[in-house]
Amino acid sequence: MERIGIAGLGTMGLGIAQLYAQAGFRVLATDAQPAARDSAVARIRAALEPRVAAGKLAPEALEAMLANISVAAAPAGIARADLVIEAVVEDLAVKRRLLAGIEEAAGPETVLATNTSALPVAALAEGLRRPAMLVGLHFFNPAPVMRLVELVAHPGSAPAALARARALTERAGKEVIGCADRPGFIVNRCARPYYGEALAMLEEGRSPGDIDAAMLAAGYRMGPFALIDLIGADVNLAATEGLSRGMGGHPRYHVFAALRAQVARGALGRKSGQGFLFPGAPGPAPADATAIRLRIEATLANEAASLLAEGAASEGAIDLALKLGLNFPRGPIESARILGLDAVRAELARLAAAAPPALRGRYEVSPALAALA
Ligand SMILES: NC(=O)c1ccc[n+]([C@@H]2O[C@H](COP(=O)([O-])OP(=O)(O)OC[C@H]3O[C@@H](n4cnc5c(N)ncnc54)[C@H](O)[C@@H]3O)[C@@H](O)[C@H]2O)c1
Repeated sequence: MERIGIAGLGTMGLGIAQLYAQAGFRVLATDAQPAARDSAVARIRAALEPRVAAGKLAPEALEAMLANISVAAAPAGIARADLVIEAVVEDLAVKRRLLAGIEEAAGPETVLATNTSALPVAALAEGLRRPAMLVGLHFFNPAPVMRLVELVAHPGSAPAALARARALTERAGKEVIGCADRPGFIVNRCARPYYGEALAMLEEGRSPGDIDAAMLAAGYRMGPFALIDLIGADVNLAATEGLSRGMGGHPRYHVFAALRAQVARGALGRKSGQGFLFPGAPGPAPADATAIRLRIEATLANEAASLLAEGAASEGAIDLALKLGLNFPRGPIESARILGLDAVRAELARLAAAAPPALRGRYEVSPALAALA
């Protein structure tokens, strides 16, 4: 039986342990906190018991799956595995130390993976004795439910390590999409304009309800503000700031004052009881709903094209990643083709002409968008 090691039994690690155990892998898991280790199996049981009660999961299947999980007291206890995934706190020094310790106890064939959202995988490979064996496996929350996993290759990742991480994760039922080690990978980067352009319109005087209603009318399951309220304005701000830093402060990742102000007043969304829209809901679509959609989808397509131009992922991979990772009804390039590439490029030119000088570069047409036919 193949073995998967998991370090970190918080939100992500617990879900990742569950999904491989459900697929029949032997899972070895650990956490630095004794309470997290001691409660891990009980927390997975509690998460799945409603499915048993609803008749969707046989009690024997639950017991068999839980029996696949062993909890170890220290990282050395999870290292003897085919694939070891770290899902600990987002801190470069902590992750580096942990990975070095696991590598020390692992065999030469063990593939190491990081679930980091925002650290360069290459920075985590530095200092390892076998950096080629490290890859990124970026799961989405909740990991057992979300089908997408981004498989991140740093420049030194060995093709065999990437292939092994892919094969094991596909066998656990995931859609694994490869991408380069660029800030935000695919989804967190290409999603930025969905929020950013909505915030730009908010600062121009539009209401969150109008903007969300326009995107719902365009087939999106949640509008930008409902999504920020769900994720948390603080989390959205940290992601935007991280990407802005990672991309050298390019205005495409401009951090809008409206988002900072929202965080400063503690209106973080669902978790604080008050967000941009929450506890309210979008109203009927405004008269100019199609213009709002064109503006957001044009900027989404331009961002996707900029990632395409970096050679980080293919057009199909980007479209699929956004459909699976954000439940978008269409990928950004698919949307641009539906709207018409000329209309999209003209919208970007219009936005650039109307923007304040500091934001003009935000709408500059990416060469890859200019080249799309
Ligand atoms: N939460 C998300 O939506 C999400 C999505 C994708 C990726 N991620 C990434 O996944 C990782 C984990 O995030 P999370 O939300 O599960 O965090 P979390 O805070 O819920 O859990 C982190 C766990 O790691 C443990 N830990 C800390 N240092 C450790 C060490 N040295 N050894 C072993 N265990 C240690 C903590 O005790 C805690 O239980 C981060 O890198 C994060 O960026 C998070």
